[in-house]
Amino acid sequence: MTTEKESTPVVTVEELGKHVDRVVELRGWLYNKRSSGKIRFLEVRDGTGIAQAVMVKNELPAEVFDRYDLLTQESSLIVRGRVRADSRAPGGFELALTDIEIVQIAHDYPITPKEHGIEFLMDHRHLWLRSRRQHAILRIRSEVVKAARDWLDDHGFILIDAPILTPNAVEGTTTLFETDYFGEKAYLTQSGQLYMEAAAMAHGKVYCFGPTFRAEKSKTRRHLTEFWMLEPEMAYADLEENMRVQEELVSYIVQRVLERRRRELAMLERDISKLEKITPPFPRLSYDEAVELVNQAGEVLAWGDDLGAPHETIISQRYEKPVFVHRYPAQAKAFYMKPDPERPEVVLCADLLAPEGYGEIIGGGQRIDDYDLLLSRLEQHKLPVEVYQWYLDLRRYGSVPHSGFGLGIERTVAWICGLPHVREAIPFPRMLNRLRP
Ligand code: 4AD
Ligand code: MG
Repeated sequence: MTTEKESTPVVTVEELGKHVDRVVELRGWLYNKRSSGKIRFLEVRDGTGIAQAVMVKNELPAEVFDRYDLLTQESSLIVRGRVRADSRAPGGFELALTDIEIVQIAHDYPITPKEHGIEFLMDHRHLWLRSRRQHAILRIRSEVVKAARDWLDDHGFILIDAPILTPNAVEGTTTLFETDYFGEKAYLTQSGQLYMEAAAMAHGKVYCFGPTFRAEKSKTRRHLTEFWMLEPEMAYADLEENMRVQEELVSYIVQRVLERRRRELAMLERDISKLEKITPPFPRLSYDEAVELVNQAGEVLAWGDDLGAPHETIISQRYEKPVFVHRYPAQAKAFYMKPDPERPEVVLCADLLAPEGYGEIIGGGQRIDDYDLLLSRLEQHKLPVEVYQWYLDLRRYGSVPHSGFGLGIERTVAWICGLPHVREAIPFPRMLNRLRP
């Protein structure tokens, strides 16, 4: 004879709708509880969602009913009960509870339903991850990554992993994290780009996806010291092709989140109508036009300077879609950028600025493919030419025009979720003042 306990199927909150009128088991944690007369309500979260379990005094053995009093916020528990469709229940289904097993009682869970300051929450990030908003954000992040990888995999790109330890600077020398590599100087990678250029010459279309590091000494809502970047690179692609791939990829990511993570977006109270507009093509603005626009808006920006956060905000607020700003002055950009043959003082690059004031989510462009020019740029930028010999080799042996870009995952997630700061877009943020938890 099998007992009810042995035969009860274990299901997730997400799956409850498939089990209406059946007795099921949920394994999770107590999110909240409340009582009303002879009825007790448990909000049980299991990782996929939160379901309400209803306990009625006359319908339960007293010792089961009394377990309600022992349960505290975040205690772990297993509940069994019959699934009911109920439009008033959050999620549309609830459990008519028949049994509770307590796994562990949590004492004094520090994050209570009252308001907490951001530093307190960040100090308790390992627990804060369980909260509704944070849960929704990280599920959207997971979808963003999956969508991006699916799109690239379906469009002929090969995943090639770039190293984390490297002797090469990519994006300037002021934000390098240096470490000792058996007596030699090494850095945590700022970008996998240079390695992707090598890989593109082997595979045509490639990408890497991994953590990148910048010793950013400023505190802004857009900067982390460790962030994740998706970096596609394409042989025989010019700047125009590069932008076309970006607008297709970014639109796909947004539409996939709308399709598969609508509930999470609703939880975050995201204005979905703004995301629905994200379809190709995206507007293109030259750097010159951008400078004019910024100056007209009353901010000061001299030709030659890189756009700062306030400038990007002005530009990105003008458009409902992400906007490309292309052809920046060479002096404002990295050493590897290819000059525009028609106007060598600007380079064939583009940054993609997300709307609603979010600003840059992608940086990319066409790379220098000429050996002599690349060598002279390395020298101008005072980079140690010896450690770039392998990179110069790519211009010695079968050099071709090529382009690529880097999409910052946290900035993309912050924009899609409508977050005020990138720190909530990554599970365990690393910033100027934060190495813990
Ligand atoms: O514009 P960046 O510096 O470009 C590169 O690293 C190129 N090598 C990429 C390439 O062409 N393969 O960085 C690319 C993106 C930015 O647009 C931004 O989204 C993100 O990476 N990013 C940061 N995100 C969070 N915190 C930081 N400190 C970031 N720095 C860059
Ligand atoms: Mg950039």
